Amino acid sequence: MNISIIGGTGKLGFGLAKRFASINHSVVIGSREKEKAVSKAMEINEEFKSFQVKGEDISTAAECGDIVFITVPYAAQKDTIDKIKGHVKGKVVIDATVPLQPGNPTNQIDSITSSAEDVLEILGNDVKLVSGFHTISHTVLNNVNSVIESDVLICSNDTEAIEIVSRLIEELGANPVNAGNLKNARVLERLTPMIIGMNKHYKKRHIGIKITGLEVN
Ligand SMILES: NC(=O)c1ccc[n+]([C@@H]2O[C@H](COP(=O)([O-])OP(=O)(O)OC[C@H]3O[C@@H](n4cnc5c(N)ncnc54)[C@H](OP(=O)(O)O)[C@@H]3O)[C@@H](O)[C@H]2O)c1
Repeated sequence: MNISIIGGTGKLGFGLAKRFASINHSVVIGSREKEKAVSKAMEINEEFKSFQVKGEDISTAAECGDIVFITVPYAAQKDTIDKIKGHVKGKVVIDATVPLQPGNPTNQIDSITSSAEDVLEILGNDVKLVSGFHTISHTVLNNVNSVIESDVLICSNDTEAIEIVSRLIEELGANPVNAGNLKNARVLERLTPMIIGMNKHYKKRHIGIKITGLEVN
């Protein structure tokens, strides 16, 4: 199974690419500049002494992926989704985009909907869209020897997609939490600026979210 990461040259996408490569998944990093993606892929391959990570332009990466992550800044999201639209039909697409104010990551953009719902509007029901991974810091992902303590909250209107992504999260050694339908992306996306603010306040880099009560009957 190929995991493609559109925006995989950036902080979150690169952390995800490294984590998935560390558990032997084939990963394709997608960039607006193929050379940049190839170079980031080589960095991971050298670290793990493998050839599991490839670099491609955005549309080729989307075409290659069975599962496609979107990890780009909110301002670039619409453009990016337009570019991959013809290449993701029937696939699981995971949107991790957060509508943050450029230059001010503790502040969210005022909107009553969510980035994920914008994606759904463009891609339509041709894709199995999941919103998630907003509360995992790239610093945690990058340190592949560390345990992911934070839960990974995901939401979707597609039950099968939730199951597929939950399995993927479990493979990373993390705990997936089904946060309900895609509308709840409005909540999940807004947790990120709050966590960034907490990291600043407590001078930490790894603050995450843990849902309690799941183990208790
Ligand atoms: N960093 C985190 O820990 C974290 C955690 C949760 C959620 N998120 C969300 O995930 C998304 C990515 O965050 P990030 O921190 O990884 O961002 P980043 O380091 O800035 O990387 C984003 C990547 O997006 C691509 N991109 C495409 N169009 C772009 C444009 N117009 N301007 C800038 N970059 C563009 C770039 O790749 P190319 O230049 O190669 O095309 C870039 O490497 C954001 O929506 C963020 O809010 C991040």
